[in-house]
Amino acid sequence: MKVLVAGGAGFIGSHLIDALLKDNNQVVCVDNFFIGTKANIEHLKDNDNFKFYELDLTDIEKLDEVFEKENIEYVFHLAANSDIQASANDPMIEYKNTYSTTACILECMRKHNVKKLFFSSTSAVYGDKTGIKLSEEGIDLKPISYYGAAKLGSEAIINAYTYMNDMSTLIFRFPNVIGPRLTHGVIFDFVKRLKEDPSHLRILGDGKQEKPYLHVYDLVDAIMKFKDVEKGVTLYNAGVDSKSTVTRIAEIVCEKMNLKDIPFEYTGGIGGWKGDVPTFEYDLSKIHNAGWHASMSSDEAVEKTVESVI
Ligand SMILES: NC(=O)c1ccc[n+]([C@@H]2O[C@H](COP(=O)([O-])OP(=O)(O)OC[C@H]3O[C@@H](n4cnc5c(N)ncnc54)[C@H](O)[C@@H]3O)[C@@H](O)[C@H]2O)c1
Repeated sequence: MKVLVAGGAGFIGSHLIDALLKDNNQVVCVDNFFIGTKANIEHLKDNDNFKFYELDLTDIEKLDEVFEKENIEYVFHLAANSDIQASANDPMIEYKNTYSTTACILECMRKHNVKKLFFSSTSAVYGDKTGIKLSEEGIDLKPISYYGAAKLGSEAIINAYTYMNDMSTLIFRFPNVIGPRLTHGVIFDFVKRLKEDPSHLRILGDGKQEKPYLHVYDLVDAIMKFKDVEKGVTLYNAGVDSKSTVTRIAEIVCEKMNLKDIPFEYTGGIGGWKGDVPTFEYDLSKIHNAGWHASMSSDEAVEKTVESVI
């Protein structure tokens, strides 16, 4: 099948491309290196089944030309602003890179009669629901970050395009995803800070933020398993049923970097920054009942990730 991966030079997108190529698909990758890197796709440059367009997905005319030329059959939409802290000071980043990328992709799909879509949504659409197990249905969706709002808006417009155009759409709401080629996030930050200055480690919040961390290999495995869905929208929380605290992550990073007795300096407060959801837990019964479980626990995923990025 000929597939388009939007945001394919990013962390998760580049791993998904590896799996799609291994599965004998032809992959067209579109990215503008807003956050993704050339290094993430460097290993693919001589692969005849891989083609890259450096393009802003909100440039709808140029995107339309790609659809016109490539006969795309399936779109995997991974593009977004993944740096939630950055958009806290500049909300329009989310409107452009998270919401408008979705709208432009959908419009090109409609024009070119492409019926299959995968969309990378997020736990951030739920908002702060501490103490409630988050299931896909029956929860009031009230995002507290601009990022979560732009993803929820994307889910809404995807629902409409899916219904109006008889599409088959798979949406996964990811938790925190980690692994090789990370572009951002707590592990990325800790490793970077300790490499620059190993005398201490500054930790945002009180360190008790506790979330599920899913390894990217497990996530890609789930996308590949579920990608062929029926007509309509199929939605799953894709996650792992254990969690890691920020302090535990800091300890693992120090252990793996052979750094002993590093003082942790907490900035204080419950969340890392305004818009950060300090803790959440997914109800994973839907995806478990469909026959998929993550192979690694949250702490195992953290350990394996740190080993791959230090
Ligand atoms: N990593 C996580 O923990 C996590 C959690 C929940 C949801 N997600 C979602 O999964 C997807 C992939 O995340 P990731 O961690 O790989 O992030 P990433 O930033 O590494 O990848 C996103 C890619 O989209 C590209 N992009 C952004 N705006 C673009 C534009 N206007 N035109 C073209 N390309 C553009 C970026 O350059 C980047 O390569 C994102 O949609 C993200 O919101 C990620």
